[in-house]
Amino acid sequence: MISSRHFALIPAAGIGVRMGTQQPKQYLRIAGKPMLLHALDTFAASPAIAHVFAVVDAEDGYVEEVLSAAPHLAGRVTVLWNGGATRHESVLNGLHAMRAQVGDDDWVLVHDAARPGLTAALIDKLAQSLRGDAVGGLLALPVVDTMKRSGMNDRVEATVPRARLWAAQTPQMFRYALLRRALEQAVNVTDEASAVEALGLQPKLVEGSPRNFKVTMPHDAALAELYLKGIL
Ligand code: CTP
Ligand code: MG
Repeated sequence: MISSRHFALIPAAGIGVRMGTQQPKQYLRIAGKPMLLHALDTFAASPAIAHVFAVVDAEDGYVEEVLSAAPHLAGRVTVLWNGGATRHESVLNGLHAMRAQVGDDDWVLVHDAARPGLTAALIDKLAQSLRGDAVGGLLALPVVDTMKRSGMNDRVEATVPRARLWAAQTPQMFRYALLRRALEQAVNVTDEASAVEALGLQPKLVEGSPRNFKVTMPHDAALAELYLKGIL
């Protein structure tokens, strides 16, 4: 376990329906470079990361051009062409495809291509916080707003106490074999942690950063620019 390596796995096989752009949103240029490239560069530059894998759709028509314009990534990044119909499926397919290069106890950091604001410091913080951990964990942000649950017609059914509520981010970091087993058994999960939770385990929450938010809606692109240009 002491010699566990860290691998990055970036699901990038979505189409970005909510973003509504013509090309899939992971290829949208933010601060001069495609979102996916921001994530690849950050992981590839981290000495803590042994290798980076990106899962794309079998028909992806963009990733080769992105990588050919980034020769510094050669040998650090492998593209896996077996994205699935859901994020869950894409991650699981990626785990299968990287099997030969990763040990059961090695760590896998699963990170959304749509979070270009990740930094080396956040990767290090997550890896350090989980060093030797039996379960693994994720970056997340404590919720600051008062939370409401809606009933019928957008009427408030309940105010949900915000104490101890966190909003999940990525990377989500688990050991290879555990993560694969969790995702193979899971149904309807939107992140890796909930699949691990379904095994009765308790992933650790490590405080992330607002800059690591997920670019989802059209207005998010401008905010991501501000963070990546260092204005925010
Ligand atoms: N993703 C994936 N395979 C899918 C769906 C999503 O690899 N079948 C990836 C996306 O490319 C993204 C990450 O999972 O990097 C987070 O998903 P999300 O933000 O929901 O992206 P999309 O699914 O592309 O967007 P939308 O839900 O608006 O269509
Ligand atoms: Mg989606």
